[in-house]
Amino acid sequence: NADAEIKTDIITLTRYLTEAQHDLGSYATGDFTLLCHALQFSFKSIAYYIRRATLINLIGLAGSANSTGDDQKKLDVIGNDIFINAMRGCGKVKVLVSEEEDEAIIFPGNGKYAVVCDPIDGSSNLDAGVSVGTIFGIFKLDDGATGKAEDVLLPGTELVASGFTMYGASANLVLTMKGGNVNGFTLDNALGEFILTHPDMKMPKSRSIYSVNEGNSLYWTEGCKAYFESIKYPAEAGAKPYSARYIGSMVADAYRTLCYGGIFAYPADKKSPKGKLRILYECAPMAMVMENAGGLAITSDRQRMLDLVPEHIHDRSGIFMGSYNEVMKAKEILDKLD
Ligand code: AHG
Ligand code: MN
Ligand code: MN
Ligand code: MN
Repeated sequence: NADAEIKTDIITLTRYLTEAQHDLGSYATGDFTLLCHALQFSFKSIAYYIRRATLINLIGLAGSANSTGDDQKKLDVIGNDIFINAMRGCGKVKVLVSEEEDEAIIFPGNGKYAVVCDPIDGSSNLDAGVSVGTIFGIFKLDDGATGKAEDVLLPGTELVASGFTMYGASANLVLTMKGGNVNGFTLDNALGEFILTHPDMKMPKSRSIYSVNEGNSLYWTEGCKAYFESIKYPAEAGAKPYSARYIGSMVADAYRTLCYGGIFAYPADKKSPKGKLRILYECAPMAMVMENAGGLAITSDRQRMLDLVPEHIHDRSGIFMGSYNEVMKAKEILDKLD
């Protein structure tokens, strides 16, 4: 019959949050829902500019660098401004940390949340049309918090929600709440709504896909070299080598890992002794998504990523994340040799 094809009971992000509100009790409060509305507005706006970038001369460099030394793309700056204005405008955020801001931004008013974000992740790929994304994490501030950078120098276990939006063939939002599962939403451009399309995302426990920049292997530790050798030249008779998939946008590599399984790694190495990826707005939010989807995320010295406390807001870490058994396999070899 006709309605078999046409879904009429559509779950938008707003409806999901309303329903989650009574499931998740404390932190999915009205304020949190209004904060998520501002978040989704920023994703829709960034998606709009990214898709038009080539048409309105928005690709290329802004001519500035950020405090982690990255050359800023025009869209890094635009995405950052859109995100900051959306977070200020909702009145629920007190502290905002962005990859593109040297210092934490403290908003006036009595917002109860702190937000960490990577406005455009993978921006070095932008001019080549490769999928990029926005990564975010949300902390609930303690009642006495006055609003300062130190308020977010917390372990990822304190995040009340995290996720990312990948601007690929469609805009895909992945959202997870503390102690919750992982849900995927696809932006319906006609309706301007994120629609629940991937409820309760779970990664397979094993998958023979590895994702790492092998161009850094010269700098890898002995354990790291041995681990990747072990999956490229498996010792077990008849075992097939792993398949290599590396996009170079963490959001795109993470989304593939979430959908198919496998392992993503950006190890700390001799060139980047603390790794390249930033703890607050890349490693921790992604680690929470991976764990809530049944996977693991560890640092190069095999700590649980979500236990790691950054010393300053742009602190970095090595990371191995993805399918549970794949990360455990890497951990065993790293534990033995590093
Ligand atoms: P960003 O564009 O936000 O600065 O992040 C870039 C990161 C991440 O997206 C990706 O995993 C990594 O850089 C790729 O680094 P390499 O080019 O060194 O592999
Ligand atoms: Mn950058
Ligand atoms: Mn990034
Ligand atoms: Mn970025």
